[in-house]
Amino acid sequence: MDKNMLIGLSYGGGYGSLPGAWRMPGVDPKSYADFDIVVKHAQAAERGKLHFLFLPDGFGKLEDIENAPPIMTLDVMLTLGAIARETKHIGLLATGSTTFNEPYNLARQFKALDVMSHGRAGWNAITSSTNDAAANYGVTIPSSEVRYGRAHEAVQLVQALWGSWGRDAWVHNQESGEFTKKGQILPINLQGKYVGARGPLYTPPSEQGQPIIVHAGGSPNAHELAGRFASVVIGSTFTIEDARAQRNAFREAAKRYGRDPDEIKFFAGVMTTIAKDRRTALDRRIQLTEREFPQRVAYLQSMLGIRLNVNQLDKPLTKEQLSAARPSPYDPRSANALKIAKEGWSLRDILAHGVIDYHPVIVGPGAEAADHMQAWFEAGAADGFWISTDVYADGIDAFVDEVVPILQERGLFHQDYEGKTLRENLGVPDQYGIDPRNDKN
Ligand SMILES: Cc1cc2nc3c(=O)[nH]c(=O)nc-3n(C[C@H](O)[C@H](O)[C@H](O)COP(=O)(O)O)c2cc1C
Repeated sequence: MDKNMLIGLSYGGGYGSLPGAWRMPGVDPKSYADFDIVVKHAQAAERGKLHFLFLPDGFGKLEDIENAPPIMTLDVMLTLGAIARETKHIGLLATGSTTFNEPYNLARQFKALDVMSHGRAGWNAITSSTNDAAANYGVTIPSSEVRYGRAHEAVQLVQALWGSWGRDAWVHNQESGEFTKKGQILPINLQGKYVGARGPLYTPPSEQGQPIIVHAGGSPNAHELAGRFASVVIGSTFTIEDARAQRNAFREAAKRYGRDPDEIKFFAGVMTTIAKDRRTALDRRIQLTEREFPQRVAYLQSMLGIRLNVNQLDKPLTKEQLSAARPSPYDPRSANALKIAKEGWSLRDILAHGVIDYHPVIVGPGAEAADHMQAWFEAGAADGFWISTDVYADGIDAFVDEVVPILQERGLFHQDYEGKTLRENLGVPDQYGIDPRNDKN
């Protein structure tokens, strides 16, 4: 194979992807509000040549704030602004809702980040889907039709604004006094059904022209939006078969918009707890997630269709329980949960394997993560992976030191950044302003 996999790091809050991360030894409990620490985490990912940081964002309720920190950064754009100044290569992807922002604001902020980072920005254009988020804007969540209608218009409008400052317009000639070329910075005067803007934007191009478009989702609406505009899709999937089907759905959608399917890169999620052996990794995960086990036992019962005893966390499932267990057809994680249970682990260890987590979970030595990623990549299930490490303080380093070198040795991951911009590093074609293939209305 002559193609390398792509790898991004999910970064939310300041502690890690597991709820107990903020209480781990060596973790500063104030990391969430400490930008020196946030920058250190970004630099750790860059040391491993990871392609990007992906900052999710949510605008909903605070969950369990008495016991656990928020899961998002204080502000995605300001966080990436701080990181941009202290890193050189890693891509900077932030989530920005098309429902709760005006395109003009999004266009300014993301292009400013792109200029500031010398061409490393990406916009995860999502629609937001909950009333919890809508409540912070004093409204209820619009219908899917309205949200996606607005999203299609918003992305086009943002790109039109990005292109409104001509690529070669800025001459800044101090002698002649010509600041920009006449007629190359023009209003766009676009008004759609949902959004509009006059423009122009007063932001020159970055080294990659303008930010790349990212989308996170998996619904048919997501296929259309991403197929039309996105270079990167942040996916959520538990099996190779499902990932392959999702990836193909995005690729087919891209074709419908006249694009080459290779222009859209599908990323599958992986959660990691890397340690020297399985036992050490399981113990670390127990420490990080044990508070949730009572709830999770209840849920595991429904995944396996049997009764479990929360007071017997130390015991493996009995022969009777195992023979009665049936993986739930409603949860794609059930078959894996049963497989782990059949290996004879205690109930506590079954849960510590992350059988009810949000993505496939690797709990063990780095080679296991590398094996998982290689198998998915070679099966055509993903172009890359977005990694959620358990604890940022040492989990990013563990991934970088224990997984990345194995992937590099196997010829599956680059030895260094290909270029200076995110487009060059991801292999995303040049674009400035609207994609002419989309310029139909
Ligand atoms: C992997 C993944 C990551 C997502 N990240 C975010 C996010 O950071 N912020 C957000 O508001 N929504 C996020 N979403 C939600 C999607 O944007 C979308 O609203 C959701 O998948 C529901 O789809 P629908 O709007 O088509 O019904 C994410 C979805 C997926 C699958």
